[in-house]
Amino acid sequence: MSTAAALILLLVALSAPTTVESQTISPECPASCTGVDIPYPFGIGAAGSGCFREGFEISCTNNGTDLPVFANKSTPVVNLYVYPPSSQVMLPIGYQCYKLSRSPSNNRTEVKSNGTSNAKTNNISIDGVHRISNTRNMLVVLGCATVALVKNNYKNGTLGTASGCLSFCRHADAAQDGDCTGIGCCKVDTMPEFDGTTAFEFLMRVSGRSRMLTYSPCDYAFLVAKNNYTFQKSDLMSMETSRTMPVNLDWAIRDSSSCADATDPKYACKSNNSRCVNSTNGPAGYTCRCKDGYEGNAYLPGGCNDIKECRNKTKHCAGNDCVEMDGSFKCGCPTGYWSNDPNTVPCTPDAELQLAAKLAIGITLGISFLLIAVLSTLLKLQRRRTKGFFKKNGGLTLRNVGTLNIFTKEEIKKITKNNSEVLGRGCFGKVYKGILPNGTAVAVKTSIEINKARKEEFTKEVEIQSQMIHKNIIKLMGCCLEVDVPMLVYEFAANGSLQDILHGKTSVLPNFPLDLRLDIAIDAAEGLAYMHSSTTHTIRHGDVKPANILLDDKNMPKISDFGTSKFLTKDKDHTVLVVGSMEYIDPMFSETGQLTQKSDVYNFGVVLLELITRKPIVYDGSRRLVVEFRDIYRKENSGGSMFDKDIATEEDTYILEEIAKLAVMCLRKDVEERPEMKEVAERLAMLRRARKSGNINHKSPQYFEEIGADGAPMSFTSEINN
Ligand SMILES: *[C@@H]1O[C@H](CO)[C@@H](O)[C@H](O)[C@H]1NC(C)=O
Ligand SMILES: *[C@@H]1O[C@H](CO)[C@@H](O)[C@H](O)[C@H]1NC(C)=O
Ligand SMILES: *[C@@H]1O[C@H](CO)[C@@H](O)[C@H](O)[C@H]1NC(C)=O
Ligand SMILES: *[C@@H]1O[C@H](CO)[C@@H](O)[C@H](O)[C@H]1NC(C)=O
Ligand SMILES: *[C@@H]1O[C@H](CO)[C@@H](O)[C@H](O)[C@H]1NC(C)=O
Ligand SMILES: *[C@@H]1O[C@H](CO)[C@@H](O)[C@H](O)[C@H]1NC(C)=O
Ligand SMILES: *[C@@H]1O[C@H](CO)[C@@H](O)[C@H](O)[C@H]1NC(C)=O
Ligand SMILES: *[C@@H]1O[C@H](CO)[C@@H](O)[C@H](O)[C@H]1NC(C)=O
Ligand SMILES: *[C@@H]1O[C@H](CO)[C@@H](O)[C@H](O)[C@H]1NC(C)=O
Ligand SMILES: *[C@@H]1O[C@H](CO)[C@@H](O)[C@H](O)[C@H]1NC(C)=O
Repeated sequence: MSTAAALILLLVALSAPTTVESQTISPECPASCTGVDIPYPFGIGAAGSGCFREGFEISCTNNGTDLPVFANKSTPVVNLYVYPPSSQVMLPIGYQCYKLSRSPSNNRTEVKSNGTSNAKTNNISIDGVHRISNTRNMLVVLGCATVALVKNNYKNGTLGTASGCLSFCRHADAAQDGDCTGIGCCKVDTMPEFDGTTAFEFLMRVSGRSRMLTYSPCDYAFLVAKNNYTFQKSDLMSMETSRTMPVNLDWAIRDSSSCADATDPKYACKSNNSRCVNSTNGPAGYTCRCKDGYEGNAYLPGGCNDIKECRNKTKHCAGNDCVEMDGSFKCGCPTGYWSNDPNTVPCTPDAELQLAAKLAIGITLGISFLLIAVLSTLLKLQRRRTKGFFKKNGGLTLRNVGTLNIFTKEEIKKITKNNSEVLGRGCFGKVYKGILPNGTAVAVKTSIEINKARKEEFTKEVEIQSQMIHKNIIKLMGCCLEVDVPMLVYEFAANGSLQDILHGKTSVLPNFPLDLRLDIAIDAAEGLAYMHSSTTHTIRHGDVKPANILLDDKNMPKISDFGTSKFLTKDKDHTVLVVGSMEYIDPMFSETGQLTQKSDVYNFGVVLLELITRKPIVYDGSRRLVVEFRDIYRKENSGGSMFDKDIATEEDTYILEEIAKLAVMCLRKDVEERPEMKEVAERLAMLRRARKSGNINHKSPQYFEEIGADGAPMSFTSEINN
């Protein structure tokens, strides 16, 4: 065979596997439409053709210009992906234009719809297998006194959750290109899960300012794929009402089949080397994936193929020899060569290496032996003791936790200047102030004694807390395990706890302004929401109360005390173990004996009450804040008579009432009716934005009545009832 022929053969062998595998179920089915790939289970074809799975039919006009659409629908489809299971469609924007007209009743001019609108009927129905992604899209609202909400129809249309934002601008030059933070443009990045439904609608209202019509004649609201819209001032003046925006959808198999029964003829994961995964968006549903080491389309018989890792030896074997195996590969060295890890370390000639290694080992041994002989006799006793504790407290596993510093007993002694300054004490143990060698102040906490049964749990807690990195969660900086009871080193919160500030005898903030209270509430809520959002573990704090919300020197709140936190596996989302403070306990607990993340929400509701009333949980001897407030709220439909007189100015009444309303929602008995922590944070943030946008302070409450004027009174924190 000539060299040329060999070369050609080699080229053919190399290029053949890189051709794109057909993604259709049979060669008769069209593989694309107007440039959009149509991978199975999607397909184009006649009813009996088998080109698509039921519910995944795509229509193509075949005139070469129109994008494909979902069968029987008119929504244009921009792309379809098998993995991750997603697609992108173009959806129309919502809009509402206005004109000035004279009211017949009082002969005043007012701003009214001019009839150009699809704001209320914008009813995008993406149903069946598709769900609008709540994480990969954002809601954008354009306008100068505009609120828009996107809501889902949670639980069969009886109760909806909504997310929205307020956009405001006083004059023509206020808005800036590219700036979508509330002036002329606002956006919501985290939306409610479009759980089990996919219709959404926008609610918009405008205040009666005629001047605005010259620079913002219409309001607009739309969902758009994140990063696919940048605000342009000119859009405020005139956005094309026929404009459509790219929106990301998630899809899943949503029929009678499930991961549980692979023998069901409808089971979708047809490839031998596939696995079935429950869908995370929407209630029922699953998707298929290729097993590790395989790639391709898991919905097609024979669709998942071995990844030929050895084609790129640089990537997988550090350039060493590579042997292909079914679903995996093996790296090795040719004879005469050696590597202590052929997967990552290039092989070196054996002889050379052995010599080097022998030398190195010889020298090290020679020196070390002497040292060890001397030291070991000296340290034997002490060592045995500390090593024992180290192991007992879970040190061996914890060493692998990346961000955590493991301090020795001696180091801790130095850091705390031999426990000279006590910051606090409780049933858990004591907290000392300390200074790290680099000057950072820390709090060193000695925990309750750890027995063998608690050991694993403790390791897990420390491990997870060290991974929870958020500006509003107290940072675990390290721990010391070489003592009988483990010591934890935390970030230092200079301004003490919210409990001391609110109710302390000598509060550092005698005048505690509403703005700061709202900021603290928002940040604390964000910290908890972050904690609840962990994807790997379901986490609840378990003891949310002002004493566990610490403030740093800039009054930034830090959620602390994870002593009672429990980490729950995904399939067990509640716990029966409880050590929280009795006064704060969720009444649900006494009925079911179970605490969930919604118990944190309940406790946060109490914190909100304490913030607006500045009353402790039990006051005037035996009056209980939650009970008293709920009674008054029920009777008067207002918490006004209990608000802290220091902040209850007339112009802030509206904000306080809204916070009270939110607190009451958090305190609901029915766990399902309480909002999620994320939603609580969003609603509070919305109030702050409304307050900061300026108008609300002096013109309120008219402002909110104005924007809710169009028949349905509306406010930020009320639920949407369908
Ligand atoms: C086909 O393409 C033309 C433009 O070339 C367009 O006007 C028409 O609506 C498209 N669809 C059909 C069904 O003809
Ligand atoms: C969709 O349209 C096809 C004809 O194009 C029809 O056979 C099918 O029943 C329709 N499906 C639904 C759900 O209306
Ligand atoms: C309503 O206002 C918009 C924007 O000014 C304008 O484009 C539209 O033609 C108006 N519609 C009617 C029916 O007057
Ligand atoms: C309404 O106001 C306009 C201008 O202010 C005035 O000309 C008109 O007479 C008024 N109409 C009534 C019914 O009062
Ligand atoms: C919205 O869509 C749903 C489901 O397709 C339909 O029942 C409802 O009538 C629509 N509402 C409007 C206002 O179009
Ligand atoms: C949803 O509500 C409708 C009517 O309100 C009812 O007929 C139906 O059974 C409900 N579905 C579920 C799953 O609860
Ligand atoms: C959305 O943004 C991505 C990345 O910025 C870009 O590649 C894509 O073309 C955009 N899609 C549309 C429909 O504008
Ligand atoms: C997937 O969902 C089904 C029910 O839809 C459930 O029985 C099964 O346990 C779930 N599997 C996993 C791994 O969560
Ligand atoms: C899948 O597995 C079955 C049984 O193990 C076997 O009969 C069949 O040939 C396999 N199919 C492919 C495409 O490997
Ligand atoms: C192999 O993998 C390396 C590292 O990921 C990459 O830089 C290189 O381009 C790849 N080579 C080929 C031929 O794919």
